[in-house]
Amino acid sequence: MRFLLKLPFALGLLSQAVSAQKAVFAHVVVGNTAAHSQATWAQDIQLARNTGIDAFVLNIAYPDGNIPGQVANAFAAAEAAGSGFKLFFAFDYLGGGQRWPSTGSNSVVSYLNQYKNSPAYFRYNNAPFVSTFEGVDDINQWAEGGPIRSAVGAIYFVPDWSSLGPQNFASHLNNVQGAFSWEMWPNGASNKTTDSDFAWKGAIQGKSYMMGVSPWFFHSTNGGKKWVWRGDDLWADRWAQTLQVNPEFVQIVTWNDFGESMYVGPVRFGSEIASGAEVYVDGQSHESWLDFLPYYIAKYKGHPFDITRDQMQYWYRTHPAAAGSTCGVVGNNADQGQQELSPNAVLQDGVFFSALLSSPAEVHVQIGNNPVTVYSGNSGINHWSQPFNGQTGAPKFSVVRGGSTTGSGTGKAITASTTLANGCSNYNPWVGSF
Ligand SMILES: *[C@@H]1O[C@H](CO)[C@@H](O)[C@H](O)[C@H]1NC(C)=O
Repeated sequence: MRFLLKLPFALGLLSQAVSAQKAVFAHVVVGNTAAHSQATWAQDIQLARNTGIDAFVLNIAYPDGNIPGQVANAFAAAEAAGSGFKLFFAFDYLGGGQRWPSTGSNSVVSYLNQYKNSPAYFRYNNAPFVSTFEGVDDINQWAEGGPIRSAVGAIYFVPDWSSLGPQNFASHLNNVQGAFSWEMWPNGASNKTTDSDFAWKGAIQGKSYMMGVSPWFFHSTNGGKKWVWRGDDLWADRWAQTLQVNPEFVQIVTWNDFGESMYVGPVRFGSEIASGAEVYVDGQSHESWLDFLPYYIAKYKGHPFDITRDQMQYWYRTHPAAAGSTCGVVGNNADQGQQELSPNAVLQDGVFFSALLSSPAEVHVQIGNNPVTVYSGNSGINHWSQPFNGQTGAPKFSVVRGGSTTGSGTGKAITASTTLANGCSNYNPWVGSF
């Protein structure tokens, strides 16, 4: 693998060879869709499909009384949308507080057998595709000849059993068709690297690897620990890393987990935002992160992409991390085997911005009335960050070529202190684009 990395030509051939089978999914927490109707699902599906996402991963927890109705709405909407967009299940063994029963009513088998033949169910190698969130006490349930496969038949099973780590996971390779690693945020004040991805890819010995790509992590809901992992450059870095890791599948985490600030889909107030998170999510749409997906997905799949106009996307927390109270939020999580730090030590105070340019151009960034900083952009994707350095005001981002501005946008103002009434820092970013 490391040898291949030094040979872009060989890597290019490799990605072309498997490009027909690659797929990009977005993780939908069905537990956060309580107010969805079939029409809401249809909107989500259309939005996702327009970005090049192939399927939604329906994360379903046990027990949750909303799940049967929302799964039915999701499949009805996907079937009505016609071919081209799919759904599959990820059985969440932690989110509802209980393990999934394998068999019986309201079980892994009942969901798979009810939906596996839907034209909207995602299939791979001619079998319904299935994943999990954890469930390491139930590994044997998924074995060849075990209760699930005996009742459902062939499945293409790519679980997330990340808590095992790649080495222990490797002792279960007979039970799986691949692995999904939840390790997609960096530990503490560092950048996420591809080390864990290559550790997983190496351990699974040619089985399918599903790589996670997430823009952010801030767990803010009431009850339970509140913590952050570094987001910052992550959205740009992780998409660049898909080209190095070259996995069979990419899973965007997530479409709608508002309580963890890792959403890229529409924010829908009402009953869909976990209690405690509302104040941090209010006014902080992340949909602009979707804008570069057509480009990122085409590159990952090895497809040509024609950049027809200059585009930018930009995101930042709207005040320095230390400009409000932590309100109990820590950086890292000891429950994940990590050393806990102040969130202020983990997050970088700055604006993060990417430009997709049809040809070389300047990118201008100006925070409030402060001096303009000029960046020199290449044709294709570019990414930078700029520290706040005490500057406040609304940041303006522009693309300038030959003295003419080809596009510009102004973001939410950066303030010296938190603007939240509770006095807490908001570690959830504002995201914009043009
Ligand atoms: C972290 O990633 C950003 C964006 O890719 C890069 O500019 C920065 O140099 C990296 N920092 C380190 C310490 O590698």
